[in-house]
Amino acid sequence: DRQKNIRNFSIIAHIDHGKSTLADRLIEQTGMLTEREMQTQVLDSMDLEKERGITIKLKAVRLIYSDPKGEKYIFNLIDTPGHVDFNYEVSRSLAACEGALVVVDATQGVEAQTLGNVYLAIDQDLELVPIINKIDLPSARPDEVKKEIEDIIGIDCENAPLISAKKGIGIEDVFTRIIEDIPAPDGDENAPLKALIFDSYYDSYKGVVCFVRIKDGSVKPGDKIIMMATKKVFEVVEVGVTTSSHISLDKLSAGDVGYITASIKNVKEATVGDTITLANNPTKEAFPGYKKVVPMVYCGIYPAEGEEYTNIREALEKLQVNDAALVFEAETSAALGFGFRCGFLGLLHMEIIQERLEREFNLDVITTSPSVIYKITKVDGEVIEIQNPTNLPDPTEIAYMEEPIVRADIMTPTDYVGAVMELCQNRRGVFIDMEYLEETRALVKYDLPLNEVIYDFFDALKSKTRGYASYDYDLTGYSESKLVKLDILINGNIVDALSIIVHESTAYAKGRKICEKLSKVIPRHQFVIPIQAAIGNKVIARETIRALRKDVLAKCYGGDISRKRKLLEKQKEGKKRMRMVGEVEVPQEAFLSVLKYD
Ligand code: GTP
Repeated sequence: DRQKNIRNFSIIAHIDHGKSTLADRLIEQTGMLTEREMQTQVLDSMDLEKERGITIKLKAVRLIYSDPKGEKYIFNLIDTPGHVDFNYEVSRSLAACEGALVVVDATQGVEAQTLGNVYLAIDQDLELVPIINKIDLPSARPDEVKKEIEDIIGIDCENAPLISAKKGIGIEDVFTRIIEDIPAPDGDENAPLKALIFDSYYDSYKGVVCFVRIKDGSVKPGDKIIMMATKKVFEVVEVGVTTSSHISLDKLSAGDVGYITASIKNVKEATVGDTITLANNPTKEAFPGYKKVVPMVYCGIYPAEGEEYTNIREALEKLQVNDAALVFEAETSAALGFGFRCGFLGLLHMEIIQERLEREFNLDVITTSPSVIYKITKVDGEVIEIQNPTNLPDPTEIAYMEEPIVRADIMTPTDYVGAVMELCQNRRGVFIDMEYLEETRALVKYDLPLNEVIYDFFDALKSKTRGYASYDYDLTGYSESKLVKLDILINGNIVDALSIIVHESTAYAKGRKICEKLSKVIPRHQFVIPIQAAIGNKVIARETIRALRKDVLAKCYGGDISRKRKLLEKQKEGKKRMRMVGEVEVPQEAFLSVLKYD
């Protein structure tokens, strides 16, 4: 039986608990890569990812392992992204596995994301293999952490390997547990093809490369395949597996993890979670749980001063070929002119796209305040969804509004429970439950409006708990809410790009904060600039930027030339990413300052 020596698994962990480091060790000790190739962490391949130290895109790697008796095994290690924005991708990559290694930092113990990921793995009926990492650290407390895993997650830790992924200690135990505890795949090789797409990316030569888990049947070049959700038909060009590079094979069969290319032009035609089968001999049922990914957060992206609109469109189109979750359409803003409304999975996804526009495409862009999707029931009974505050109908036409709610699981040392609850209350949270996990740690559950968590909730949580709390969240639904549109006027003109939808009860405080912030980041001009916050016609806050008296250079008149140049350069730097809004020059950071109100 060819499947009996295959093991398909993922590694799940809270951020920084050592997932990538362990993956590197597993790859290294199976001797597939050269030392030089190992110098950079292999699984995180995008630059940006490396810098941010988080795993965004999934990949799979095939390892060959020989046990001490010389028996050979194929290990397919599937990487998972480590952020809630990408939870759907995590769940699809887990669906491609039979087991998961649960890596827990011996100095930190179980964290919110450990738990969040474990729940996703349990949903897929995976065998969980606990692994205690970082035992080389003096503050490691492996026995306590084992007990914590048993108590909180409910898995037996008697055989849990105690390892140091960094120092390479205990890795052999990990291999043993993979072989003994994770079941071999047991698909039917003679059944019609049934393959799950758990990742895909666009390659300019091959088209879309789909990473798949073959559940039943087999697939080879020349086969006509159909995507069961999108109904698109393609002819397979190449199949293969990834080791240190792609290696093409004659075919992929039940139990295998590998890639398929079929001259597919856009990742939207081969989306994560879809099932591939043969067009003329299809499998009966697709894999369960397919979801079309829908953006949760929207913002406007506009050219900064001097930047071309068409360059931004081209860049967004290029990014979209490789990112099924990114959506955009043209929009116009009275303040910023022509630009795009873009939808993202979450704020991290948004920041990544913004950074890629800047770094990979060398573009200067201005992003407007992100918005979630609101549901509005009008007086006449019509229900509309809006993701741009500017499109909010007149208040007299609105019967009621609803906003998205998330259930947040927050883990915190008991000392900070008070601070965490205060933060959640301030963000309009509804207390759900609290549980002591052990004497010193608690799990606090709150329902929170998404619009209160997307901006800076995580930063606020970290700062209020000295970095000790962690959290994870899930969208649970919509709830009616008293919301209003808060407009910002600069020099008497409403700047539509700064409008936000906020809860009535917080409008005054937010209006004041935003005016204060703007008055600090907008430079002085030759004239007085009033900054106002308003709800409808009612001004609720005001600040004034005083006029500039003298030319900045006047001070330096007769002074030494280098000082003058410095001043000019400094001004030039400050000029970067400015936009004229009416008569007023507004720097990029002004548009972001509406986000951070704590
Ligand atoms: P994300 O990819 O960001 O989710 O993090 P990760 O879980 O992949 O963590 P990563 O492997 O990047 O490790 C995080 C940090 O912990 C790095 O600085 C590692 O060098 C360090 N680290 C990982 N394993 C060990 C270990 O066994 N001992 C010690 N002392 N440090 C470790």
